[in-house]
Order: sequence, then C-alpha cells, then structure tokens
Amino acid sequence: MAAIDTLRRKRDQALAGGGEAQIKKQHEKGKKTARERIEALLDPGSFNEINQFVTHRASGFGLEQQKLMTDGVVTGWGKIDGRLVYLYAQDFTILGGSLGEAHGLKIARVMDLAIQNGAPLICLNDSGGARIQEGVDSLAAYGEIFYRNMRASGVIPQISLILGPCAGGAVYSPAITDFVFMTEQNAYMFITGPEVIKAVTGEEIGFENLGGAGVHCEKSGVAHFSAPDEDTLFFELRRLLSYLPSNNLATPPYRQPFDAPGRAVEGLEEIVPADAQKSYDVHQVIEQVVDDGDFLEVQPDFAANLVVGFARFDGHPVGVVANQPAVLAGVLDINASDKGARFIRFCDAFHIPLVTFVDTPGFLPGTDQEYGGVIRHGAKLIFAYAEASVPKVSVILRKAYGGAYIVMSSKHLRGDVNYAWPGAEIAVMGPEGAVPIIFRKEITASKNPDETRTRLVDQYRAEFATPYVAAERGYLDDVIPPCDTRSRIISALEALRDKRIPTPSRKHTNIPL
Ligand code: HXC
Repeated sequence: MAAIDTLRRKRDQALAGGGEAQIKKQHEKGKKTARERIEALLDPGSFNEINQFVTHRASGFGLEQQKLMTDGVVTGWGKIDGRLVYLYAQDFTILGGSLGEAHGLKIARVMDLAIQNGAPLICLNDSGGARIQEGVDSLAAYGEIFYRNMRASGVIPQISLILGPCAGGAVYSPAITDFVFMTEQNAYMFITGPEVIKAVTGEEIGFENLGGAGVHCEKSGVAHFSAPDEDTLFFELRRLLSYLPSNNLATPPYRQPFDAPGRAVEGLEEIVPADAQKSYDVHQVIEQVVDDGDFLEVQPDFAANLVVGFARFDGHPVGVVANQPAVLAGVLDINASDKGARFIRFCDAFHIPLVTFVDTPGFLPGTDQEYGGVIRHGAKLIFAYAEASVPKVSVILRKAYGGAYIVMSSKHLRGDVNYAWPGAEIAVMGPEGAVPIIFRKEITASKNPDETRTRLVDQYRAEFATPYVAAERGYLDDVIPPCDTRSRIISALEALRDKRIPTPSRKHTNIPL
C-alpha cells in the first residue's frame, strides 16, 4: 500500500509542473500549460506519457535545488483522429522550459520512437532555450535533436508548434521540420533577441516585430500557419494531419467525399477572364474543382503570387500548386520558388500527387531579383518538379510563357498528364514582348507603326499564343473545356495511382540551395 501511495504522490508532484504560481503566470500570458495543450490537441484519454520521473543530474548555479520531475518537457504518444502520433510539449513552468541534458534526451527518445514506429512527430515549443546552467550539455542535447530531425526528414511528417519563446539555435529544430505553426500572440522565433541586436547594431525592435507570427508567416517564410489562439492552431494542425500519411511507406489517408467525381464545373470561364491582362483569384478555381470546395492553404501570406496547399480529388489527398494572377500577376520570383520547391519536395517524399494550375507571365524581372539570386532560387523549383516522382497532373488555365512554362510541371520535366484550356497561351514570350523583337524592322519601316504592331500582335497571338502548337507536338495530352477540369484530373490521378519510376543509384541529389 505504501508503494502505491509513493507512486501516487510522485505522480501528483509530476503533474503539478512548476507549481501553482508558475502555472498562474503562464495562464496570465494567455498560454496553456504543457499538459493542457496535450489534452486539447489529442483524442480524449489517448495520451500515454513516458519518462515522467526524469530529473536532471546537473549541479551548480543552484540547479541541484531545482530538480523537478519531467525536467520541463512532457513526452509520449497519443492519437489524433484515431491515428498514432508522438509528441513532446515543453513546460515553461519548470525552469522556463529551458533545455538541459535530461530534457533534450527525453525529446531525442520520443523522436527515435516516432521514426522507428513510423508515426508523425508533433513538437510543442515553449522554452527559454539552452539551459544556461547546464552549459555545453545543453548544446549537445540540441545537437542530438537536430540530428534526429534530419534522420526523420522524409520518413515521418514532423510538425512544430511555436507557443512561446523559441530563441537562439533552438529555432533550428522547428526550421528543419516540415511545417511550423505559430500563435499570433506570445510566440516568437529569432536567432538573436532585441537586447543583443541593440547592443550590436543599435537597432531597437520588440519581440513581435522581430520574430512574431506576422514576421514569419509573411516576410521570412519560416512559418506556415498561424492562428489567434492555441485551440484554433490545434484545429488547423489536426486538419493538416488529415491529408498526410503517417510515414513515407504509407498511403495518404482516403476520405469519402460528398462530391461526385464526374461533377461538371460550370462558371470557370466567368472566374478566369479571357483577356490575359485581367486578374482573378485562383483560389476560386481551386475551390471549384477540388472535393467539396475544401482547400487547406499552406503559407497563405508568404509569396502569395504562388498558392500551395492540400486538397482531395475523389477522396485522395493531393498537393495543389497554382500561380496566383491576383498577386503580382502570378509571376514567379525568389520567394515563390522557395515556397513551391519545399512544398513539392514534401509532397514527393510522402506520396502525395501534385496538381498544378498554370497561369503565369514568367519570372519577375529586376535587379532585386537578379542580385538576390533568382537564378539559384528558380532552379530549386525546376529541380523539385523534375525530381518529383509522384503523379504530376497540370492544367494550363491561361498564360504559360518562357521558363515558367517549362518550370510549372511541364511534360519536359516529366509531368505525367498535361492539360490546357482552349484559351491557353503557350509561347516563349507574350505577344506584346515578342512582336517588337521579331518584327522590329517591319514596325519601324511601316508608315503606321502602331497599326502594324497591333496587327502583328493579333497575328502572333493567333498563330503562337494558343495551346494547339504544344498539343500538336504532344507536349499537351489534351485541350479540355474548363467544365471538365475536375473529372479529367480525377481520371488522370486514378490512372497514375500506381506510378513507379526508377531513380538512378546515387547518394543523394544536390539541389541548388
Ligand atoms: C535557464 C531559464 C532560461 C534559460 C528562462 N529561464 N530561460 N533558465 N536557462 N535559457 C528561467 C528564468 O530564470 C525564470 O526562472 C524562468 O525560466 C522564467 O523565465 P522569465 O524570464 O521569468 O520569463 P519571461 O519574463 O516570460 O521571459 C522569457 C524569456 C527570458 C524571454 C525566454 O527568460 C529569456 O530571455 N531567457 C533567456 C533566453 C535565452 O537567451 N536563451 C538562450 C538562447 S541561446 P525563475 O526561477 O526566476 O522562475 C540558445 C542556444 C541554443 O538557446 C543553441 C542550440 C544549438
């Protein structure tokens, strides 16, 4: 009886975290505790904690008086929508969730379990970073985590939630994982904090403006999703997981749609104006053609000129990539290339087919882009599409000019099924750019240059800026009426479901970074 009492007492102590005062402080900031987060995230009653009794073995700086069970991180497994996940949640109420040796090795252990058992890893971050008193042992533990992040990459989905501070080198574990979620308040990520920045550069900046969700979802592209509160963030995370297989050997989860596979999509011509100079919102096209209008956009506020996200066709998950004519006319640039390439590589690693909607005038011209390395970044997008061995289906909605035609899942990069709508324009460049170059002499020699230019533009458009030149060469598999877009994509995906292509034997590719 005494033994069971000891167990109960110890269990109660562990569950109390850093104590009432620390928990109150956590709540006052609008943050949940680690255990409250786990309860809110997982299926009820599914959490199984491991290593609850672990404490640190460090001494010095008064640390020997601050030994609390869990060592500031709660680890274990549970279920989300009935599917196994492994997770850790840092407990800010214990030593500020700081990461010492024992804390780090607990995380490493749960990562090993996730990798060995092929289940997603969910990382709930809320920490003051490396536990200063434990010195190099803290740094070593971070290294163990980073190493395992790399080992897990492409094997299991890894998802980070930033729910509090995440500073210094600690940011690199989330950055290696596949998706980063941030709460709009309280969460921040940076390499050096406001005080160091002020000391080194004199610049004055606060936590939010330096590394809040707004910064990382819009400017840096470090984060993929944000939400005003933790519950909404957990909802979005569960939604994301519903599209993902548990590991790289599993099939993405099927979900019975309400939508019919053969549904004709009426009204797409009204959304996409025939005049290539006019813009429209490509979300409307995506939502019309996918199952039940359900589209989970990834990084909606970063490089919004390229839309990426998850949807389903006839119940099977796909990754959607689409140029967005409503933002910068849908051009490709440095950030869009990075965003697209990373998303494509994620989908490819986890057998999620790619569906691409093309309407882009090409790459963005300008010194900003050239000096920033648009060549290097654009090369990533080409590389990612060419490398991807999952089924690749594309539909050219309107413009596909120059390098952008090749990049966006073209047949030449081994797109499997390539469709175009009848109004598609496919050429080296648009009529307005091409005519002054190839007809310079005729235009300057003519009595009425404006009239000649207009006539030649019309002629060029009729002869070259159509889908039929590409279709004649077999670069397109078909020219389809817009209303058939959904049914033809579904049919193509069904025909490609068991696609297997051999990859050459090598250690790994060398994607331009
Ligand atoms: C040890 C830490 C700690 C740390 C916080 N605490 N960070 N203990 N090591 N890194 C402790 C505090 O002493 C305090 O203990 C408790 O956690 C809560 O912290 P507060 O400061 O009271 O909380 P708050 O005001 O909310 O401020 C949070 C904070 C601040 C902004 C995170 O604590 C802070 O700046 N911490 C240091 C952050 C940092 O520089 N970390 C190292 C980054 S470098 P008591 O006992 O008073 O409650 C790094 C390198 C990683 O991480 C390298 C990997 C390769």
